Amino acid sequence: MITTKWNVENVDNIKEHPAIKEAAMWIREGEVIAFPTETVYGLGADACSNKAIEKIFEAKGRPSDNPLIVHIANKDQLAQAAFSWNETAERLMERFWPGPLTIILPKTERIAERTTAGLASVGVRMPDHPVALALIEASGLPLAAPSANRSGKPSPTIGEHVYQDLNGRIKGIIDGGATGVGLESTVVEVTGETVTILRPGGITKAQLETVVSEVKWDRALLESEQAPKSPGMKYTHYAPDAPLYLIEGNAAFFQSRIDEFQGEGKTVGVLVSEELASQLQADEVKSLGSSLQVEGVAQKLYHQLRAFDETEVDVILGETYPIDGMGEALMNRLLKAAGNRVIAENNERD
Ligand code: TXA
Ligand code: MG
Repeated sequence: MITTKWNVENVDNIKEHPAIKEAAMWIREGEVIAFPTETVYGLGADACSNKAIEKIFEAKGRPSDNPLIVHIANKDQLAQAAFSWNETAERLMERFWPGPLTIILPKTERIAERTTAGLASVGVRMPDHPVALALIEASGLPLAAPSANRSGKPSPTIGEHVYQDLNGRIKGIIDGGATGVGLESTVVEVTGETVTILRPGGITKAQLETVVSEVKWDRALLESEQAPKSPGMKYTHYAPDAPLYLIEGNAAFFQSRIDEFQGEGKTVGVLVSEELASQLQADEVKSLGSSLQVEGVAQKLYHQLRAFDETEVDVILGETYPIDGMGEALMNRLLKAAGNRVIAENNERD
């Protein structure tokens, strides 16, 4: 398949752009198109068509028991995807849409079985990106879209990542430049007035608490390999080619781990804040910016994980961050990328 690449970075009047019209035409024909959102690039197709959704799974090489998020451009489209929503969900939408919040709701008949992997519920969000909104609106359809990476790879934060993973496997890529948040949306379930976070992401728990009285946080669910409520959490995700270990300890301890791996003849890469980078000696150092700017660290994470695939490192050692605010989503993704391998000062490597 020939993959068309449209560059729409910085264009004025995106809604009228020929790329959007052509891409929307392909979507209506049941094809798959990658597009930017404010979180990561998505791989979009008609959420109402089993055949179109099948093409997403084929392109990604992803197990099809994993439900996809449905993207809408306006509140009118919500009723096409979701059967009902309560007042708490309504408040979340008012406050956080468009934005990186996915809300699990009972699905309508229209949403294809393949989109929700047979579940009676559907995850819906309205992305905060002009290109995404223009494409959804022009196609006139709710778009199912997982992150636009091959299964297991870090999610794409620039058009080039999508091209590397999916060129020849999909009809088109709309390149809108770098995404903003850099990590995926927060996924929540709403029961009465209680909101439960199923996947941490671009909207923090503290932000949710500004509009709802009770936000639950099942860490056991998030960290377990078998997360029943959010099936996507159980697969190894976001991983670079070389194994990643997270190091918990001070700079001296971190350096001693580098030295140990090098002593085994390994080429060692480190993925750390700029503060720690200045204190370490390794074969390859990639910085995530200042550890005081956790949003900046989150934004750079997938980009730098992918950048290690262009190097010859045998192993990557990464820093850990406080589990607070955006640090929650950041550590969730780091632990997944590391397959939960953490080397702490008083722990053995597993
Ligand atoms: O930021 C994002 O959310 C990106 C961009 C492209 O919008 N999309 C994304 O999609 O991350 P995906 O398919 O990679 O992740 C979907 C997540 C998974 O953890 C999945 O299990 C959960 O949402 N999910 C989707 N529908 C669900 C449902 N009905 N019940 C429970 N979890 C659901
Ligand atoms: Mg993904």
